[in-house]
Amino acid sequence: MPDFRIRPCRPEDKDAAYWVCLKTGDSGNDGTHLYAEDPHALGNTFVGPYIFLEPEFAFVLEDEQGVCGYVLAALDSAAFYRRLVQEWLPPLQAQHPEPQGDRAAWTPTQELYYGYHHPDIYYPPAFHTFPSHLHIDLVPRAQGRGQGRRMMEHQLAALIDRNSPGVHLGLSAVNRRAYAFYRKLGFVELERVGTPEPQVIYMGKRLP
Ligand SMILES: CC(C)(COP(=O)(O)OP(=O)(O)OC[C@H]1O[C@@H](n2cnc3c(N)ncnc32)[C@H](O)[C@@H]1OP(=O)(O)O)[C@@H](O)C(=O)NCCC(=O)NCCS
Repeated sequence: MPDFRIRPCRPEDKDAAYWVCLKTGDSGNDGTHLYAEDPHALGNTFVGPYIFLEPEFAFVLEDEQGVCGYVLAALDSAAFYRRLVQEWLPPLQAQHPEPQGDRAAWTPTQELYYGYHHPDIYYPPAFHTFPSHLHIDLVPRAQGRGQGRRMMEHQLAALIDRNSPGVHLGLSAVNRRAYAFYRKLGFVELERVGTPEPQVIYMGKRLP
């Protein structure tokens, strides 16, 4: 059994954490092929802001081969989204202009660039009793070994320590494994979003 260790994420873990994001970026499966034109684009959306704006709630999983997972959270989603818009996104907007033309022809990377200019922030009043939110991803070699549960328990303990009354998260509606995992950890469905079929399922858990 390999030795897995959870430790705080440091700024120099950025590339490794972005790699984990890419390797799990297609609804839990390898998304490398989708974002080949800019392998950092996905991490810039889902990882970078947490590492740099919420370092107290950024943890990585490491084995002898290096970083193989992370769990990232924002303690206060409203405050996090304000800083996302004011501090994190402007340099990305300057680097990557908003894509033009027929949206149906955009690449997945162009969709992410659009999101730098129009961030997909979903935090309705019904979620305000779950003010924290999180993301967890483990590459295949770390999956199915109880490490996801360990990571999650580590993160929830950190949020409880800072008096968070609840946490929410969003997952791709086709990611059945993640759905089963979150249910097992006590998360309940809050909302399904998307038409005609739901694209994202939001789930929440009260703390402690
Ligand atoms: C989803 C993910 C975080 C789960 O972590 P994991 O380490 O594989 O899961 P664990 O081994 O810790 O399982 C924890 C519990 O969930 C249950 N579980 C996990 N996958 C399950 C499944 N497909 N069906 C039913 N139960 C499942 C386990 O049985 C286990 O229960 P137990 O602790 O009571 O024995 C991980 O597989 C992953 O990162 N996948 C790819 C990326 C991804 O989908 N991230 C989520 C994006 S929203």
